[in-house]
Amino acid sequence: MAIKKIGILTAGGDCPGLNAVVRAVSKNALSHGIEVLGFKNGFDGLVRNEFIHITPQTVSGILTLGGTILGSSNIANPFKYTLPPFGTPENPRNMSSVALHNFKENGLDALITIGGDGTLHMSQQFVELGMPIVAVPKTIDNDLSATDQTFGFDSALAIATEAIDRLHTTAQSHHRVMIVETMGRYAGWIALRSAIAGGGDIVLIPEIPYNDDVIVNYILNRKSKGKTFSIVVAAEGAKNEQGEQAVARTVAGSTDAIRLGGIANKLSDMIESKTGIESRACVLGHTQRGGTPTAFDRWLSTLYGAKALDLVLEGKFGYMASFRQFKMTEVTIADAIAKLKRVDPNGEEVKSALEVGMSFGSAQIG
Ligand code: F6P
Repeated sequence: MAIKKIGILTAGGDCPGLNAVVRAVSKNALSHGIEVLGFKNGFDGLVRNEFIHITPQTVSGILTLGGTILGSSNIANPFKYTLPPFGTPENPRNMSSVALHNFKENGLDALITIGGDGTLHMSQQFVELGMPIVAVPKTIDNDLSATDQTFGFDSALAIATEAIDRLHTTAQSHHRVMIVETMGRYAGWIALRSAIAGGGDIVLIPEIPYNDDVIVNYILNRKSKGKTFSIVVAAEGAKNEQGEQAVARTVAGSTDAIRLGGIANKLSDMIESKTGIESRACVLGHTQRGGTPTAFDRWLSTLYGAKALDLVLEGKFGYMASFRQFKMTEVTIADAIAKLKRVDPNGEEVKSALEVGMSFGSAQIG
C-alpha cells in the first residue's frame, strides 16, 4: 500500500529528544511526499481531532529544543477517557471508537506514536482494533526491556550527574549528608548510573531493598575514617526492607495513579536523627526531563524517528523501533510491553559500584 498521509503524536511525560524524533519522522516523510498531521497532546488530539499540518518550517530548528511542539498528556487514555466534556475520573468513557473514526476520516495510512510504557499499551490496544501503528520508545526511566536505551535517558542522566557534582561542594563545605532524589519510577537506572558517574557514596534503588541501619552505619564509618560528608542518591521508587515506598500522592483515573516522591526528605530526617550529622534533601524532579537533549539523545532520537518512518514504509505495523547494540532494529509492540527492564542486583553495574566502595544500603548486597 502506498503511504500518502500519516499522523504522529507524543504522549506520556515529556523528555528531551521528543522534538528531534518528530523532526526526523517528518523530514523523512516529507522527503517521500507524505503528508504529516501532528496530533496535539498525545492521544487527546486523536480523540478531539486536534492536529497541525507539519511542514518543513514546523520542524525547522527544533532538534535542540526540549519538550514537545505537539504537546503531550499522560492522562488522556482513549480507552478510559476521564477528561471533560466526555468523561470524568469517576466515570471514564471508552473513546477509542471516536479516535478510530478520526483516524479514518483524516485519511491516514499510519500513525506513529512516541511514548513510554503507558503509550505503548494504548498503541497495542489500537493495533488490536486494526489501527496501523508504529511506536517509538521514550522515557527518561530507561525501563523498557525491548530496547537497549530509550531516548531522554541520557539527558536525564547528565542532569542528575551534574546535580550530584554541584551538591558535593555544599556537602564538603558544610560537612553534611546530601540526599539527592532522582526520578525513574520503578527502575533504578537514573539513580545508579548518576551515582556511579557522580561519585555518590550510597545509592538506593527499587531493585535492592534498603535498611536504615546499614545506611547509618555506612555514614558513621565514613566519618570515623575522616570523611566529613556523604552523598546519598535515592531513586524515587526505592523500597526499604519492609517494602515501603515514598508516595507523594495518588491520582484517581490517571494512567499513572501512583505519584512517587518524598524519599529524600524522609531519609534526611532519619539520617540526621540517627547520626547527628546535618542532612539536606534535594529533589531533582522535573529538571531531569527539561531542557535541551544531550548530543547522544539528539543522535538517538534522529535514528529512532528515521527508523519509525522506514517501518511505516515497509508496512511493519504493530512494531516499535528498537536500539540494539548500536543498531536500529524493530520488535513487536506486544513484545515491548511484555517486560520492564530493571537493574539486575547481581549484574555487572551493581558489582562495579560495590567494587569502588559504594553502598546500596543493604546487608544482602555488598
Ligand atoms: O516516567 C517518567 C517520569 O518522569 C518518572 O520518572 C516519574 O515518576 C513520572 O514520570 C513523573 O510524572 P509526572 O510528570 O506526571 O509528575
